[in-house]
This record gives sequence, structure tokens and C-alpha cells, in this order.
Amino acid sequence: MLGKLNHVAIAVTDLKAATAIYRDTLGANVSAETDLPEHGVTTVFVELPNTKIELLQPLGDNSPIARFLEKNCDGGIHHLCYEVEDINAAVAKLQTEGARILSEPKTGAHGKPVIFLHPKDFCGTLVELEQV
Ligand code: CO
Repeated sequence: MLGKLNHVAIAVTDLKAATAIYRDTLGANVSAETDLPEHGVTTVFVELPNTKIELLQPLGDNSPIARFLEKNCDGGIHHLCYEVEDINAAVAKLQTEGARILSEPKTGAHGKPVIFLHPKDFCGTLVELEQV
């Protein structure tokens, strides 16, 4: 079911500073900032030859990453995103396996459907699946 690693997401408190670290200190190509109000985050994507890094900063009052940043005040790895060919088939398989899916498929940062899976079911790691 799982395809490629699409991205590793890092939550940050200062997106401009984090973007500068990846662009200037590490010499990577970075995207423009994009607000995703439905997900409560502003994102920047760092483009690497084999995957991407998603920098996430809270957007709005009820951002799902606000609590994470209270506990991890320097920022930190927030989730891993794996590609799947068919998100509905993935949901059906995961429901059969008894895994907890945190929401209905939503449109993610790349305009494609995504779901998030409960960290307690996946080795303590929040997992995002993106249909490609
Ligand atoms: Co993501």
C-alpha cells in the first residue's frame, strides 16, 4: 500500500527563520509560504532530490500544531507523509486493520487528498497518507 516517502514535516515557531536556515545555511531550494486555513498551518516546502521537508508554522487560533510547539519549544519533527495510490482503498484497508484515522480525507498541501493516522497505532509517529 505504501509508496514513496513524500515529505518529513517539521513544526517551527518562526517560519521565516526556519526557511532561511534551509535556504541560506543548508543551501536548499525552498518554496513560497502557503497558508492552509483548513489545516491551521502555513507551510514552506524544501525541495530535496529524493523527498521534501515541510516546514509548518501555526495559522489561526486552533492550529493542530500549537500544542506540539508548546511541548517542543525549539520545534521538531511533526509527521511523516507516505504516498498511496488510492486514498479510499487505504482508508478501507486501515479500517479493516483497526487503525485509527484522525479525519475524513481532506485536500492537503499539494492539492491532493490526505488523511492522518493516530500516532499510538504507528510507533509513536503521526503519519500522513497522500494520494498521488
Ligand atoms: Co504533511
